[in-house]
Amino acid sequence: MKITKAIIPAAGLGTRVLPASKAVPKEMLSIVDKPAIQYIVEEAVAAGITDILIVTNRGKGIIEDHFDHSVELEAMLEKRGNTEMLQTLKKTANLANIYFIRQRETKGLGDAVLRAKNFVGDEPFAVLYGDDVILGEKPAIGELCEVHEKYGKSVVGIKTVPDELLVKYSSLKLENVGENVFNVTDMIEKPKLSEKFSNYSVLGRCVLNGDIFPILESIPFGVGNELQLTDAMKVLAQDGKMMGIEFSGKRFDMGNKLGILKANVEVALNHKEIGEEFKKYLKDIAGKL
Ligand code: UTP
Repeated sequence: MKITKAIIPAAGLGTRVLPASKAVPKEMLSIVDKPAIQYIVEEAVAAGITDILIVTNRGKGIIEDHFDHSVELEAMLEKRGNTEMLQTLKKTANLANIYFIRQRETKGLGDAVLRAKNFVGDEPFAVLYGDDVILGEKPAIGELCEVHEKYGKSVVGIKTVPDELLVKYSSLKLENVGENVFNVTDMIEKPKLSEKFSNYSVLGRCVLNGDIFPILESIPFGVGNELQLTDAMKVLAQDGKMMGIEFSGKRFDMGNKLGILKANVEVALNHKEIGEEFKKYLKDIAGKL
């Protein structure tokens, strides 16, 4: 079944990038000249997704403004004859059908996904974590959708991470079914190293079937007293209903200072306006380190 709906949970508190994220949501921190969440929306659109629900909370109204028309700005650009930027702004406001819902209480990623139950109805849907930007030739979520179309099971986007990150993310038990595709048979959120299954972790993308909702509604709160999406996906995994794909793009964690810097460097190096000059600058300072 073709996936056309996606959820972007963006209601987290962003405590790891304070004070930058105090008044500006971390999802709105910029990578060169676009906020992080726009890269994520563009990835979803490139994979054929037409309807996106962004889960927000108090203080995240600027996300709504960003994907809306800015009448005054557009009029000014038109008057000044800056048609290129005018087109860029109009395109941003027309990327997809974007809807918003508030999570009200920050009770975890699982709870944020549960807010989307009425939006998705009976259809399978994509989840793109609002602080995970994935850059690559193919949209990462499209790679997951292909696995879902082939096998019909829920799918997570995975990669290996070092032990120090694994304990902050999740650990997966896997069986390879060919190339970069796996059956996920078990998983654990924020494991102790003694509990890890492998160094593969879920990184920011999943495609889920509707059977995730009754599980989310019945499981207890997990690590950090939050409703953990991993705990619900673990039930699917143990039931033989979960797969994983090692996606091809590079993932950047916008909830972490180093991740923000790395994303900016990568995008800047390939930027048509500043790429060459930035490369020169980088070589120059790298030579002096
Ligand atoms: P994180 O655990 O990275 O978000 O969740 P956080 O709570 O903002 O992180 P800290 O405070 O820096 O550790 C991953 C994604 O899930 C969203 C976040 O916005 C982020 O995009 N999320 C998390 C929600 O939408 N609601 C929640 O209750 C928790």
